[in-house]
Amino acid sequence: MTARLTARELTLGYGDRVISTRLSVDIPDRAFTAVVGPNACGKSTLLRAFVRLLGPAAGTVALDGRDIASYRPRSYARAVGFLPQDLVAPESITVHQLVRRGRFPHQSLLSTWSARDEEAVAAAMAASEVADLADRPVATLSGGQRQRVWIAMALAQQTDHLLLDEPTSFLDITHQYQLLALLARLRDEGRTIVAVLHDINQACRFADHVVAMKDGRIVAEGACAEVVDATLMQEVFDLPSIVVPDPVTGTPMVVPTIGAPSPAPGVPRRAW
Ligand SMILES: Nc1ncnc2c1ncn2[C@@H]1O[C@H](COP(=O)(O)OP(=O)(O)OP(=O)(O)O)[C@@H](O)[C@H]1O
Ligand SMILES: [Mg+2]
Repeated sequence: MTARLTARELTLGYGDRVISTRLSVDIPDRAFTAVVGPNACGKSTLLRAFVRLLGPAAGTVALDGRDIASYRPRSYARAVGFLPQDLVAPESITVHQLVRRGRFPHQSLLSTWSARDEEAVAAAMAASEVADLADRPVATLSGGQRQRVWIAMALAQQTDHLLLDEPTSFLDITHQYQLLALLARLRDEGRTIVAVLHDINQACRFADHVVAMKDGRIVAEGACAEVVDATLMQEVFDLPSIVVPDPVTGTPMVVPTIGAPSPAPGVPRRAW
């Protein structure tokens, strides 16, 4: 496994509040990594460190062996794109205007808006199905429509690395799967994808690599089929479950046993 994006011995926190200590992780190149873990375990905090929204108190995040703090903002933004978890659009901005902002890192004083920028915006809007909303103010959209506009903005940035914090939130089930399939396609085209996902079954179906976190630590990482089992679900999520092959893809599928009549009749006891 090669990794252009690496974190070494990170201490991350907010003021006096330490979230992670000595956290090290490699983001495998040209792979789809899912970051999973319970609420408040530090997933967003880790992603923020990777996109320089949070400077580590100790340790280093590096891209191509160079501390990311030493990159100019625009050049880092051409390499690593980010979809945050909490998004607020500027007042009265339209969909098209917002998606165009994804091209900001590609602009300079000397280069004006080009046909290439327009193509990137059009392709991103088509991929996340927001082309027909182009002239609508973002503030007037539904939660799911708005989420797709933000995704389009991140896609328009056309970065080698794309980090997304809960990109499926607000999306209906079909749009969730379409987005994950799109991310997998981008991976197939050579991009490096990192997504925080709460649906472990979706993570196993679409991601190659999983990073499981708890209390600011990485508890397990590796190929989904090797890492995700009932023991991990108990350890990371305190969730009793059985793990069976996904009938569509054969990847691990977690079926929680909460709510089962006791003893659960007919529940296959197959261990993954
Ligand atoms: N700006 C902040 N100031 C202080 N504490 C923060 C801040 N942001 C997050 N935290 C705390 O850091 C811890 C980790 O938060 P983080 O947002 O990384 O969790 P998460 O794993 O992304 O959770 P979720 O699944 O709910 O999004 C939590 O205890 C949270 O309360
Ligand atoms: Mg979060």
